Amino acid sequence: MVDRNTEIVRAASAIVGDRHVLVEPDERAGYETDWTGRYRGSCVAVVRPGTTVEVSELLRACTRLGVAVVTQAGNTGLVGGGVPRSGSAGGEGARPTIVLSMRRFASISDLDTASMQITCDAGVTIADWQRAARQAGLDTPVDFAARDSATVGGAIATNAGGSRVVRYGTMRQQVVGVEAVLADGTIVGSLAGLAKETVGIHWPSLIAGSEGTLAVITAARLRLVPRFDHVTTVLAALDDLESALSLLAAARRRLGSLDSIEIIWPDALDLVSSHLATPAPVEVPPQGVAVVIECADHVDPTTDLHAVLADAAGVAATAIATDGPRRGQLLAFRDRITDSIATAATASGTPTYKLDVAVPVGSIERLLDTARAAADRHGARLVPFGHLAEGNVHLNFLDAADPDGIAGDVLPIVAELGGTISAEHGVGVAKTKWLHQVRSASELDALQRIRRALDPTATLNPGVLDHPGAIDPGAIDPGAVDERQLP
Ligand code: MLT
Ligand code: ZN
Repeated sequence: MVDRNTEIVRAASAIVGDRHVLVEPDERAGYETDWTGRYRGSCVAVVRPGTTVEVSELLRACTRLGVAVVTQAGNTGLVGGGVPRSGSAGGEGARPTIVLSMRRFASISDLDTASMQITCDAGVTIADWQRAARQAGLDTPVDFAARDSATVGGAIATNAGGSRVVRYGTMRQQVVGVEAVLADGTIVGSLAGLAKETVGIHWPSLIAGSEGTLAVITAARLRLVPRFDHVTTVLAALDDLESALSLLAAARRRLGSLDSIEIIWPDALDLVSSHLATPAPVEVPPQGVAVVIECADHVDPTTDLHAVLADAAGVAATAIATDGPRRGQLLAFRDRITDSIATAATASGTPTYKLDVAVPVGSIERLLDTARAAADRHGARLVPFGHLAEGNVHLNFLDAADPDGIAGDVLPIVAELGGTISAEHGVGVAKTKWLHQVRSASELDALQRIRRALDPTATLNPGVLDHPGAIDPGAIDPGAVDERQLP
């Protein structure tokens, strides 16, 4: 019988070269645990291809040998979708897995200021995409706190959102073209950058948000947006959520320059304040919330922003900044929340349980009540913040001894409110058992059929987006795949 562990290492070495196949436990360790420390597993090897053809040959070998592939780049995922499943190191009865690291895919090319597009390899970080855009007097339509590590490929795979969705939409909307590799090694897509094309199924639309289950993304043609000379940031303390929602409506109606509007509950603001050892720039009333608004334009938007704030009800205090350093200080209270939560989790010894959900904005209050009750019931500490315009709230539970209990209390209510169990982090392995809350059984089966049509041996990210009851990828016999059908 073929030892698939040895076979895949041998095959991978022949394709990418020995030095790009990491098999020692200490070399693999950083790839086997996710950023939060909650999700981990082990793999036979970490394989680091450098070209699309190498990815194609590798996937073909994995499909032939029945080896599962977990694609990873920045390893900033929060739902366990980019690390091996536990028990996947190829022990007896387990399905061998490799981590396909895309970190060598780091080139940027073909920036075109006329079409406002750029080509980025999948492993380019959001920060590098941003730097390249800014050097050309342009900017990226997507931005979020993990920009220095998170990559373009991961952001497309999870349909990441971030803070600028209110102005430009999510990552999916920025992908003009994609190059990707299917499980059988077929290379699909185009980087031509055609903003208009209706020739059947559109690969970017199909692949964005599929979390590494349909294809491995190797490069993308991405949109750019104007870079504005004037940016004004305000941190406002509001009396209550209702005031924040009225401010949201006014800002959207009156401020064409609105770039982002984020919400921070006092528990999160206090945590950042102690983490940074700096008092918050504004004091939030006991039942209140803080909102961070950014406006960016070719002309100074400060006067218009002031006018909206002056007319708004329930504004308890504001701190406003237009220059880089002062804006940075205000933004730190938003950008450093995830860090602050991670530090608190490390100190307590229990990884954070993160629920990324969205509800219609009018239902945020009910969502928070539900989350607070769940935290109380399960002895956890709730640290909420999020992206106000999309009703996207990040419910972070510290000291959560019973994450499933919390999810079981919160997610059915999210569904009842017409919301979603994942707004921008993805489903990964974390939320598969809750998929039925937002998708019907027949819909889930249809989605599985699409997946199996492109990946009959469940090579790509098995376990991710696999609802319980879906075909067990561990049970698929690679011998059943007719090699003659492979390219
Ligand atoms: C954010 O909005 O900062 C990210 O989604 C990360 C997080 O939720 O921790
Ligand atoms: Zn977020």
